[in-house]
Amino acid sequence: MAEPGRLEVKAVSKSYSVPGRARLDALVNASFDVAPGAFVSLVGPSGCGKSTLLRLIVGLDKDYEGDILLHGERIAGTSLTRGIVFQDHRLLPWLTLEQNIGLALANADWSPERKAQTIREHIALVGLQGFEKAYPHELSGGMAQRGAIARGLVGQPEILLLDEPLGALDALTRVRLQEELQRIWRVEGVTMILVTHDVDEAIFLSDTVVVMNANPGRIVKQIRVDLPPGPRDRVSTGFAALKREILEAMGETVAQHPAAPALPVEA
Ligand SMILES: Nc1ncnc2c1ncn2[C@@H]1O[C@H](COP(=O)(O)OP(=O)(O)OP(=O)(O)O)[C@@H](O)[C@H]1O
Ligand SMILES: [Mg+2]
Repeated sequence: MAEPGRLEVKAVSKSYSVPGRARLDALVNASFDVAPGAFVSLVGPSGCGKSTLLRLIVGLDKDYEGDILLHGERIAGTSLTRGIVFQDHRLLPWLTLEQNIGLALANADWSPERKAQTIREHIALVGLQGFEKAYPHELSGGMAQRGAIARGLVGQPEILLLDEPLGALDALTRVRLQEELQRIWRVEGVTMILVTHDVDEAIFLSDTVVVMNANPGRIVKQIRVDLPPGPRDRVSTGFAALKREILEAMGETVAQHPAAPALPVEA
């Protein structure tokens, strides 16, 4: 696998001009660093510029101020060195799972044998052996999302960008896939940047949580997660303290739940 990516986001600003509307500051002066092999989450309310930032890092949009550097070099355009996974799996319905994953290698200068072998390895990595010839409609939501993760990793990127990849899944599948994602991150040694609305998910998975806020989109705090490496105990005091700190940085008031009154017990 490639060297895990070292990413520097330096004073990045991005605005959108839509005819007939005021210019919108989607991102103002955002800076953070991601060490090689780190797991960083971006959390914040809707519209704070999380997807905008990922689009810039993946190289889909070059029209911004500031610098985004990978190993010290400015990112220019998309590349196999950066994979991305979206909230919806985006697998093409007329292609099998292995063909869908293979699409990510269309521009790779690899032999057909190396492509086939790498596709097989990544299907195994996400636990989908036996489903190589299955079409997307034959997969559950969780399985399709595993397929999307395999597609994001098959080009052996230095960085995997994940834009709410588990957002559309039910709570149980989501927790299971968080554990899977952590295992995959360890095995692959790839740098991961995850966008999520779910503060628990961010604390469970990350070394660092970057907290953002909207109007204008900006980074308000970077919080190091100093809990023992996973699987982390989601009900520990340390976990709860970090959750409170993150929610406060997001401007959320943490609800105080008074202890429920005891119910009278029938004799
Ligand atoms: N192509 C575009 N043209 C104009 N405005 C855009 C464009 N893309 C995003 N925006 C605006 O930029 C702001 C940030 O959008 P972005 O999609 O980055 O937010 P987000 O944090 O990912 O939100 P969500 O959690 O809802 O996905 C929003 O106000 C959005 O309307
Ligand atoms: Mg988004």
